[in-house]
Amino acid sequence: MLNIILCGAPGSGKGTQAQLLVEHYGLVHLSTGDMLRAELKKKSPLGLQIEAIMARGELVSDEIVTTLLENYINGLEPEVKGVIFDGYPRTIAQAETLTAMLEKKKMSVILLDLYVEKEELIKRLLLRGQTSGRTDDNYDTIKQRIEVYNKTTVLVGKYYASRDNYFFINGNFSIEQTFSQIRRIVDLVQK
Ligand code: AP5
Ligand code: MG
Repeated sequence: MLNIILCGAPGSGKGTQAQLLVEHYGLVHLSTGDMLRAELKKKSPLGLQIEAIMARGELVSDEIVTTLLENYINGLEPEVKGVIFDGYPRTIAQAETLTAMLEKKKMSVILLDLYVEKEELIKRLLLRGQTSGRTDDNYDTIKQRIEVYNKTTVLVGKYYASRDNYFFINGNFSIEQTFSQIRRIVDLVQK
């Protein structure tokens, strides 16, 4: 089984590269951001609870996100080829939860750390904000999301680096060039 964590700042291309990984390797895509946005759309009690947090660009609690993740993992078909974790883990507590969950299932994981310059992140997200309808794709919230990433989520990369399953990806290039870096690593790891 091939499990991949796509880690990177907002706008680094996690969702875009996840889609290509799905097409190329037949993996399933688990995006905690998409799951949370689905709750917002349903206007479920959970959706109402997290709406303001997401609009401010803060992290939703570990407890809420981990419950969503556990439900998803427990519902997976046994024949699934692997999971792309897009936007999870974002804190050390989430990383520890995922490690325990995967160890229990005797599964391994690699982390791909997508690095993109701040100016480029802001440019991409402002452009997407013209059509995305996402309440967090505006200048102030983008800046806050990047700050949260630099303060908290960046530590997740270090957590995996210390466990030898960390790979750096330069995401400043085109979508295709970035994906070819990813493909080289995934093909190597799969051998
Ligand atoms: P989430 O949905 O994960 O958003 P994010 O991390 O802010 O990242 P984005 O989805 O905006 O960017 P991306 O890296 O996926 O880039 P994309 O491929 O779309 O999280 C949203 C919120 O949910 C969080 O702020 C938090 O509140 C909450 N949340 C989620 N997970 C959580 C967790 N685990 N714990 C707690 N809270 C959580 O690309 C962006 C744009 O750039 C697109 O328009 C794309 O077409 C374009 N693009 C992509 N690649 C390139 C390229 N190489 N060149 C040019 N353009 C490109
Ligand atoms: Mg995304």
